[in-house]
Amino acid sequence: MNQNYIIPNEWSIIEEGFHKENITTSESIFSIGNGAMGQRANFEETYTGETFQGSYIGGIYYPDKTRVGWWKNGYPKYFAKVLNAPNWIGIDIKIDNQLLDLAKCKVLNYRRELNMKDGILIRSFTAKFSDEKKIEVEAYRFLSLDFNEVGAIKYSVTPINFSGEIEFIPYLDAGIVNEDSNYDEFFWEILQIEEEETEAYILSKTFKTEFHVCTGMKIELALNDYEINLDKETEKTEKNISFKYKTNIKQGDTFTIYKYGSYTQSMNHPKAELIFAAEKVLQKAAIIGFDNLLDKQRFAWAKIWKTADIIIEGDLKAQQAIRFNIFQLNQTYSGKDSRLNIGPKGFTGEKYGGSTYWDTEAYCIPFYMSTKDKNVAKNLLLYRYNQLDKAIKNPELLGFNGGAALYPMVTMNGEECHNEWEITFEEIHRNGSMIYAIYNYVNYSGDYSYIPEFGMEVIIAIARFWCQRATFSSDKERYVILGVTGPNEYENNVNNNWYTNYLAKWCIEYTLENLGYLKDKFQSDYNRIISKTNLNEQEIKEMQTIATSMYFPYSEKNEVFLQQDGFLDKELIPVSELDSSQRPINQKWSWDRILRSPYIKQADVLQGIYFFENHFENHLIKDHFDFYEPLTVHESSLSPCVHSILASKINRIDKAYEMYLQTARLDLDDYNQEVHEGLHITSMAGTWLSIVQGFGGMRNFDNRLSFNPQIPSQWESYSFKINYRGNTLKVYKNHKTCEFINESDNPIDIYINNKKITLSQQMKVKI
Ligand code: BGC
Repeated sequence: MNQNYIIPNEWSIIEEGFHKENITTSESIFSIGNGAMGQRANFEETYTGETFQGSYIGGIYYPDKTRVGWWKNGYPKYFAKVLNAPNWIGIDIKIDNQLLDLAKCKVLNYRRELNMKDGILIRSFTAKFSDEKKIEVEAYRFLSLDFNEVGAIKYSVTPINFSGEIEFIPYLDAGIVNEDSNYDEFFWEILQIEEEETEAYILSKTFKTEFHVCTGMKIELALNDYEINLDKETEKTEKNISFKYKTNIKQGDTFTIYKYGSYTQSMNHPKAELIFAAEKVLQKAAIIGFDNLLDKQRFAWAKIWKTADIIIEGDLKAQQAIRFNIFQLNQTYSGKDSRLNIGPKGFTGEKYGGSTYWDTEAYCIPFYMSTKDKNVAKNLLLYRYNQLDKAIKNPELLGFNGGAALYPMVTMNGEECHNEWEITFEEIHRNGSMIYAIYNYVNYSGDYSYIPEFGMEVIIAIARFWCQRATFSSDKERYVILGVTGPNEYENNVNNNWYTNYLAKWCIEYTLENLGYLKDKFQSDYNRIISKTNLNEQEIKEMQTIATSMYFPYSEKNEVFLQQDGFLDKELIPVSELDSSQRPINQKWSWDRILRSPYIKQADVLQGIYFFENHFENHLIKDHFDFYEPLTVHESSLSPCVHSILASKINRIDKAYEMYLQTARLDLDDYNQEVHEGLHITSMAGTWLSIVQGFGGMRNFDNRLSFNPQIPSQWESYSFKINYRGNTLKVYKNHKTCEFINESDNPIDIYINNKKITLSQQMKVKI
């Protein structure tokens, strides 16, 4: 059963009426973030009902222990957790000594809105206490995009039917535990609590990783919009500091608290200066003031929307959904800092540890590449480049050597930090997506210099890994890759996963191609890279041999590549014949049963066909789609988008639309009833891909930007923009025409349905 309480709206996510059962789900959906930090949409005031409190700071994690008795050589040493950070949003309210708590008061006129155009969270309600006193509350909150260490809250209370005493108690609380911690383990050590007239600071550090964070608040008060000063009482505990402001308030008057909150942290400042840095940033925020900060916020979001927006006419829910996906992706990663990345749940939950997965390279890069400046995607590539040393160290534990790199499936700092061996660790295919992302970036941006400057070292190291990992089968007289898990995690420890073998071969070939090109065109870089990596002729020859003799499982009978050796031994009963009571199989079946079944969690062979669509004729794409999709349960949020794109490619627009719906409103409608844990941020990039690459048919192979737009019958029109090599191109499609508008001052060459068209500056073509 899907949830259905989010009110459709073009630019906002809206909830009306107070429903306790939706609180944790809404806390995820209404989350806010600015690329450097993020928070679930927890209430400012106390809430004693069910809630999942979460504030997160980019890059801050804790290596949780995972060692157990049956530990084997090569297993990752720890499991990294994103850490729930100290809370700066808290503001307790008391009315004539009664605590405002929506779990206990009667709540009327409740409304919550996440305004995606401006990047602000707004909440309003009337609360009735047990003595019948009623107050009206309005709360505005945002995390500044411009000053990404600060956020601001404007929280107003108006007594409706009484005059009486009101207390505002803003606080900082560093006594935070992770929702997913074992035995309520505490991950922060509190070092110092400081107080000034209107400000407070808590300096704390994480155990083991020693990240230092100063959490700060600065308070301003107003009565009916006029700033006022009130004496405060301070209360401090070991982990918490609060200010109490008490006053009498008349019926109809509005008392407002402005709370500026901040995190300054040791990745960005010297540890000894964190409080000072917090003081500076909070004072600056207060001088600018809430309203001006909000104007800047609107302006910053307007800039993002200018290129990133997708407009869908004739389907309000689809419009809301695509903007929600684009909004959340921008809240998660701003591209300003190459040490940060995109966790599958972003800043909205703890599952998946907040770490970096192959999701970034396989799904997210095209989104950021097309909607932002090219440096944003480049920063994502540099994240991996900067972790190359660790990627070379990782496989040494497994017996690889000579500069072979295995990038982690899950990481916070370049080390593997996931403890599920067969599912996650064996997914060595992720190594290939690192090279694929470089290829994608270079192809799209035209910035070849990335390869000689950075990329080539990564490419060589990964190719080396594939060469060492492949072994020669004298039976098959081919190179094979044994004991892996493909993208379909419902098969573990299989031999010759087609996707992995295909990607490995391509990676090696791409390495050889670039070595040749560099030798020819970038000789001094070539010499530097060869000497830095110690690559020799013998190794290059071996690479050639392995690439040309890679084995691919194939079924003559079905005329398809097989997902892995032995796939046809399974009982190939299509998913449509499974009783719905058996779904999702990952919740209903034992792991053993899943592994023996033919069911595919997410695109596997089809993932490869999607990546390398230009290698396959259309009829092959169709054959593989028809063979694998009926066996696919789409139990990863990353699955429907790839299927939607391929379905568009083979002109099955209804199927493409069906798959699109599964990705676009996955979180808003909570299809899998798990949104309370956090949002599926990385699959949101897949939603964008389903429109731009799926319906829009945008491709970027062989240095050509091409389109083949189609439109689902449910929509009247859609349009999107892309930033292509510094120029903005708009694509508009309705049921009659398709328009391409070059909004920039340089000509752009595009291919439409295979025909080359040069769009001069500011030119529009209609077809
Ligand atoms: C998927 C992986 C993905 C991970 C994080 C898993 O469910 O199977 O492919 O990397 O989620 O999004």
